[in-house]
Amino acid sequence: MKPTSRLDWVSQAGIRVIKDNQDVSGAFLASPNFRVYRYSWVRDGSYIAMALSQAGERQASAAFHNWTARAVTSQADKITALSKAARQGRQLDQRLFLPTRYLVDGSVETGGDSWPNTQFDGYGTWLWALADHLGGKPVSQEQAVVLAADYLASVWQLPCYDYWEEFGDRQHTSTLAAIAAGLRAAADLTGKPRYGQVAQDVWAWVLEHCVKDGMFVKGPQDSRVDASLLSLAVPLGLTAVDDPVYAATLARIEAELVSPAGGVWRYLGDSYFGGGAWVLLACWLGLAQLKSGRAAAAQASLGWASGFASSAGWLPEQITDPDHTQQPEWRTPWAEKWGEPANPLLWSQAMYILLDDRLARVDAEDSSSTDKSSIMAMADPGRRGR
Ligand code: BGC
Repeated sequence: MKPTSRLDWVSQAGIRVIKDNQDVSGAFLASPNFRVYRYSWVRDGSYIAMALSQAGERQASAAFHNWTARAVTSQADKITALSKAARQGRQLDQRLFLPTRYLVDGSVETGGDSWPNTQFDGYGTWLWALADHLGGKPVSQEQAVVLAADYLASVWQLPCYDYWEEFGDRQHTSTLAAIAAGLRAAADLTGKPRYGQVAQDVWAWVLEHCVKDGMFVKGPQDSRVDASLLSLAVPLGLTAVDDPVYAATLARIEAELVSPAGGVWRYLGDSYFGGGAWVLLACWLGLAQLKSGRAAAAQASLGWASGFASSAGWLPEQITDPDHTQQPEWRTPWAEKWGEPANPLLWSQAMYILLDDRLARVDAEDSSSTDKSSIMAMADPGRRGR
């Protein structure tokens, strides 16, 4: 049986879309049809690689990890200078910060669309995804792992742009969580405990400064909830889904960020393309719901997302009709500036695959279990056949 055969047709199409848009270098285009996304983001790519590894497409994910390792190694001089300055307690030169996205050949984009390019989360997520991919096997990219970890250990206390490439003047909970998880992974991969110590410091800082009224918030200076906070438990595992603070955050995401027409907003007040409902976030919410034992809710999240797949199985970044947008008046200005929203978005395809795969595994466990009652009770009776 082929490893992907348990997946539905949207996932199967998603794997093809992802592989078709993987450059020979190993890099993924964030979106082939949206001009300003024709780059390889470390953040997007790390989630895409997770989906490929989980779906059994390990060669393709390994190619991405090798590409990222080469991209990081090409920045070694900058990282060494930054780490030295950090150790000496000197101010860090922002020109030495790593980019969040690269051209597919691994070079740094210099001109063109100058938009926020300093974000730390991607490198943390990459380290986590690499360790997850290797599953305890020895790492062949150790030099890059050490460089990325040194970088994160040097910069974590500084402001940067967030997951959504906004608010560059402050720190962000999800960014810090990605850094903590990445450093923890680096300690495991390299056997260097110092990265684990910094990871602990980062996470302790999050617990002290990024929890308000018993819930994780967008950042120390922003008490809104942000859908990227889902990452803290799924996949990063920094907290359990039933931890009271995470559970309360999840409940707040479901109460405030699920659009009345379905799908998930990034945060309240988002105006990018009108602030639509994101497909990847609906799937991400499904992963958290499933991990919390709510298979029917997770299935409904997947069902919402699959309803927006094109006949070729493409999934867009976000749904931007007036029913799904927070500020519909902002859709046209963005479309005039950059064109129609990205479609397909490889990160959307990846999150769909991750959720579909997890649900399929629950199905498989269900049918092999002698006591099916608990899962059966959660499952939607109208669940698709596989
Ligand atoms: C999102 C980023 C993403 C990038 C490429 C941006 O609009 O805010 O999170 O990495 O698109 O997909």
